[in-house]
Amino acid sequence: MKKTLLITGGAGFIGSHVVRLFVNKYPDYQILNLDALTYAGNLENLKDIENAPNYTFIKADITDAAGINKIFNTYNIDGVIHLAAESHVDRSITDPNAFIQTNVMGTANLLNAAKESWKGNFEGKRFYHVSTDEVYGSLGETGFFLETTPYDPQSPYSASKAASDHFVRAYGNTYGLPFVLTNCSNNYGPNHFPEKLIPLFINNIRNNKPLPVYGDGKYTRDWLYVVDHARAIDMVFHTGKNGETYNIGGFNEWQNIELVKLLCTKMDEKLGREPGTSAQLISYIKDRPGHDRRYAIDATKIKTELGWEPSVTFEQGLDITIDWYLNNQEWLDHVTSGNYQSYYQKQYAH
Ligand code: NAD
Ligand code: TYD
Repeated sequence: MKKTLLITGGAGFIGSHVVRLFVNKYPDYQILNLDALTYAGNLENLKDIENAPNYTFIKADITDAAGINKIFNTYNIDGVIHLAAESHVDRSITDPNAFIQTNVMGTANLLNAAKESWKGNFEGKRFYHVSTDEVYGSLGETGFFLETTPYDPQSPYSASKAASDHFVRAYGNTYGLPFVLTNCSNNYGPNHFPEKLIPLFINNIRNNKPLPVYGDGKYTRDWLYVVDHARAIDMVFHTGKNGETYNIGGFNEWQNIELVKLLCTKMDEKLGREPGTSAQLISYIKDRPGHDRRYAIDATKIKTELGWEPSVTFEQGLDITIDWYLNNQEWLDHVTSGNYQSYYQKQYAH
């Protein structure tokens, strides 16, 4: 069936994998990739599909309500998959306003535009909001986040995502807007901007730079390979129930320090270094303010109701990821030039 889908944030890390999957898998769909190309957006991520006949890039900012309305008036949009966001917790601590603008106001602008353009005729329409497990707050030593876990966001980033989730559900409840929402754990994989733990540390190991581990390093995250997230988004978009939330995760918890040691071991092997060489770069630094101790997703619902599960193990995913970074130095050089240097100096000055 022909459909026109608006994917926001498609030039970013996860969005580019979602765009690629949809463009290749659904030749009958017209895929519109809307992105403002902030520091995190990079059209180099989509070089392989940029000339596909069912793909169009639109440079636009979701904080610009009039511009977003115009796009909805120009195209006959059947579905929205909304990923555009400010996504880095450390940046949200330094500049929360950008997160409020893009994540909260930007999402509201998209909701308003969809509501106005669909005019209550919601047949065949769907608004998919991509969110994070961080909205649930921080776990103790045990337990998992379920779809029913109360929201308890702790950082400006997670607070802004939580607010956007609430608006999506409120538009569903109040105006009948058909939506689905997913909360996913930490992603890793190719095209991940090297400000987040895994790509930052791969890049630093390669360049023999210190590996800045926050606090005691015993913070825990649940890691999922980005292509598996994109596969889940495809599945939820097509088979999820309206008004439902699905948690997505890999049942793959790692303490930061254990993950960093694994990365060091793998990088020593791949770079032909003596075992133990890269681990010497580990450097404990001042903790992130308000640092959430542990995230862990219970992904039973999406598995039992929709049949989704991860397709690669963590070992496989990490190997693909490290190899990708080692083979794409040019991509890294481009994204780490210019503003990245001043961000890095400010963030890791101490
Ligand atoms: P990212 O930072 O790599 O990419 C974000 C993209 O959004 C970029 O291309 C950027 O240019 C674009 N963007 C930012 N502000 C915009 C604006 N005002 N208008 C239009 N485009 C704008 O982020 P990501 O890691 O790919 O995350 C994508 C989504 O998935 C986000 O909503 C994030 O909250 C969510 N999420 C991320 C993770 C993760 O581990 N990275 C986990 C769960 C959920
Ligand atoms: P990050 O990749 O920023 O994702 P999030 O904060 O959204 O989970 O960080 C993952 C974990 O790694 C988190 O506990 C913070 C920690 N971390 C460091 O120890 N050092 C760093 O330089 C970064 C960026 C993160």
